[in-house]
Amino acid sequence: MSTRIILVELFDLVVFGATGDLSRRKLLPALFHRDLAGQIPEGARIIGAARTSLTTDGFRESAREVLAKEVQGDPERSAAAERFLQRLHYVAIDAKEAAGFEELSALLKPQPDRVRVFYLATAPELFGPLSERLREHDLVSERSRVVLEKPIGKDLKSSRAVNNAVGSVFREQSVYRIDHYLGKETVQNLMALRFANALFEPLWKAAHIDHVQITAGESLGVEGRAGYYDTAGAMRDMVQNHLLQLLCLVAMEPPSSLTANAVRDEKLKVLQALKPISRASVSTTVVRGQYRAGVANGAAVPGYLEELGAPSRTETFVALKADIANWRWAGVPFYLRTGKRLPARVSEIVVAFRPIPHSVFEDRAGTIHANHLVIRLQPDEGVKLWLMIKDPGPGGMRLKQVPLDMSFQEAFGVRNPDAYERLIMDVVRGDQTLFMRRDEVEAAWAWIDPIMELARETEEPPKPYASGTWGPSAAVALIERDGRTWHEDMASNHASSEPLHPS
Ligand code: BG6
Repeated sequence: MSTRIILVELFDLVVFGATGDLSRRKLLPALFHRDLAGQIPEGARIIGAARTSLTTDGFRESAREVLAKEVQGDPERSAAAERFLQRLHYVAIDAKEAAGFEELSALLKPQPDRVRVFYLATAPELFGPLSERLREHDLVSERSRVVLEKPIGKDLKSSRAVNNAVGSVFREQSVYRIDHYLGKETVQNLMALRFANALFEPLWKAAHIDHVQITAGESLGVEGRAGYYDTAGAMRDMVQNHLLQLLCLVAMEPPSSLTANAVRDEKLKVLQALKPISRASVSTTVVRGQYRAGVANGAAVPGYLEELGAPSRTETFVALKADIANWRWAGVPFYLRTGKRLPARVSEIVVAFRPIPHSVFEDRAGTIHANHLVIRLQPDEGVKLWLMIKDPGPGGMRLKQVPLDMSFQEAFGVRNPDAYERLIMDVVRGDQTLFMRRDEVEAAWAWIDPIMELARETEEPPKPYASGTWGPSAAVALIERDGRTWHEDMASNHASSEPLHPS
């Protein structure tokens, strides 16, 4: 395994919302790991900004607690963490008031040549006001970049408003709309698999592919984020961004290069080709669910409504069937599924090839399963290609389904960097390839909005499902109606041959 660390340019990174969940859980650990890897240059600073009144020492102290998990008592890492903490500064700032911006200016302005990143890890309503304040205080330099966390609005209209407000301060080339799924190792590998191998691309179309499944399952519930989550739901929280982005990467035409706009142009075409889900079809193509009490990770857990403490029609699960209206994909359904409190944390893309047109084998050789290519995002990232082979040994021709199995962990034996590590470094480098362009975000909303509107219109509450199950039974019916089933790891299902006749 070769690890190549390319030092990034000197930067100042200002994290708005620095005391929040995302900053503590993801951003600080990600930055620490990049520092540990030697990628962050001497002198680069991370400036936390939030409403909480806190000193730089207080911020460092709370970051020390966050990093304890990464350090795990290792003396070398501990020393590295202490060095990392010296990069941290803190400014108490209220996005709606001038207070704090003077202090921020005093930190930033003496260093005009550095790459300056403003990471807005706040509610989207603050993206506009914060950008405006930054302009008022003359903090937006030629080398400034702004990072927007999803969700960008809650529908097309509000996302346009957010994009307009940010766009009046920052040029599109300086706006980095983050979708952390794009930074996951296996998502990158999907591009390698498709475009660095001659094997798959000729088969990558309706003539050879029966359907595609994209699942992003979580065993956790809303975990104290019910306030935000209840305004979003699985459709806005996961489908509008992560799942549709994965769909785009599977379905897009090969871009002419991997430059940001070449890739994003192709993804945009996919989003624009998504067939609108109509009133007539919604009941058979979209299933919304909400978890009830049940068992997750071996423990009894409450239902969504108990956690929220109020009635709600917000969905915590979505399964849907999407069609892409173009030559490559006509007639190939893309089944998407995501939910909280499912039996496992599993994210994967399954490309199901068509069955063979004619079998030369006798029935007793066993069932011939169609080939599946499974791209596993998490856990145990890797790629599995399910093939039919002859069961070894005597006994005539017996067929067996086995995977060509590549676990990245086993193959390369390295820790996979968290998606945020890659993405933050890309921002500093000025590479927008793995970030969503404005038109992509808006095209995704344009497809999602009518679905949400139909759900509102019908006033049908989401279907209940017990925590620890794969969602409401309607989600199973959605795919079985088409004569297909959700993929379950075939290792447990069909890996053994069917012993048809004793040798
Ligand atoms: C976030 C969602 O974008 O993605 C969360 O807001 C979700 O609700 C998370 O839990 C899932 O990310 P991952 O990387 O754990 O699959």
